[in-house]
Amino acid sequence: MQGNFTYHNPTRLHFGEDAMNHLAGELKNFGSVVMLSYGGGSIKRNGIYDAVVAALKKAGKTIVEDAGVMPNPTIEKVLEGARLVRENHVDLILAVGGGSTIDYAKAVSASAYCENDPWETYWVNQGNPTCKTVPVGTVLTMVGTGSEMNGGSVITNRKEGFKRGKVFGTELFPKFTILNPRFTMTVPQYQMVAGFFDIMSHLMEQYFAGTADCTTDYINEGLMRSLIHASRIAAKNPQDYEARANIMWTATWALNTLLKCGKGGDWEVHQIGHAIGLVTDATHGMTLASVSLPYYRHVMHDGLHQFKRFAENVWGVRPEGKTDEQVALEGLVCLEAWMKEIGVVMHSGELGVTEENLQQVVDAVLILPVGYRTLTRDEVVKILIESM
Ligand code: NZQ
Ligand code: ZN
Repeated sequence: MQGNFTYHNPTRLHFGEDAMNHLAGELKNFGSVVMLSYGGGSIKRNGIYDAVVAALKKAGKTIVEDAGVMPNPTIEKVLEGARLVRENHVDLILAVGGGSTIDYAKAVSASAYCENDPWETYWVNQGNPTCKTVPVGTVLTMVGTGSEMNGGSVITNRKEGFKRGKVFGTELFPKFTILNPRFTMTVPQYQMVAGFFDIMSHLMEQYFAGTADCTTDYINEGLMRSLIHASRIAAKNPQDYEARANIMWTATWALNTLLKCGKGGDWEVHQIGHAIGLVTDATHGMTLASVSLPYYRHVMHDGLHQFKRFAENVWGVRPEGKTDEQVALEGLVCLEAWMKEIGVVMHSGELGVTEENLQQVVDAVLILPVGYRTLTRDEVVKILIESM
């Protein structure tokens, strides 16, 4: 039976080649001071910065520049952004970039007027803002995280030794998001396919939980099949608009709260990935790719029915004359072949996990009591060693 849920997603999306035309209309809904948050400069090289600044100027906004949001954004950068918001009385944070910039913008929004320590309040104690927050709008330039239509905000604190996610409530979902697939065409191949695997991981980590015959799983299977199909095209020809547009749309639906309706979730691959990211600063999607197969082979027997269903409904494995275990394993073989085909990193050693820093990674893994199996710390070690 499906579980209980309430579904509400307040983010307004504008999708397609002309999506930027909607920015002017959106800007009318906010006050005059806009903080323009972005990353290391890719938007200056590909012209997106100029287009956004022109729209802001035309709308008569005062722009507060906030550059340099790094991949895997840090709490130190969040606190700097929070100070900028307070000093300039910012009315809207416009995040132009990928998941890192958008996650950062939500973190800044919740931290600017927080009376306590934001890291402790949100990422350690998982509390919700009781202070004023600042609206966030986004122009997405890199596909994968789903941050453009959710409350997720993953922040790294190297001093404390954790990379942690906080899922804020709907008040911190972006108020609007501009989704133009053309804006993603300059993403380097490595980042692009990392994003593809991030999407697949979001889909799988919500799929591999529960035993109910659940409509949400059928929606999820459709998204996985669309992603697999389009990613094969895009990995060979990144300029294929149709494939990139389908992937962009899939990524948003993969993590905008729809697919958790009536479901639990697993999310242990993300926890191990975050620990690798903390220690190596590796690209998020690649951290997930490097541990997924060892992880899924490890938990497969605990959720055999769903791994069998995955093999049949997502990969088209024929079950005749095979045991459930054989079918399920064949599904994982198909997953592996697809990962190699699109070109993701298959081993955590390639990302910088070594015998020397292994224990640091293990210690940083948050073990969640969900999914088909709650890992012990020793099992985390085993999975990580196999992933290297
Ligand atoms: O910094 P810039 O110059 O913008 O370059 C970025 C960055 O180097 C580049 N890039 C982005 N758009 C580009 C581009 N380069 C050329 N052309 C473009 N159009 O790509 C690099 C990676 O960007 P980043 O934002 O870090 O990537 P991604 O979107 O994968 O975000 C990763 C972060 O999101 C978190 C991850 O943990 C990680 O910190 N996540 C957030 C989630 C959420 N909010 O729900 C869920 C995810 O599971 C994930 O954990
Ligand atoms: Zn992810």
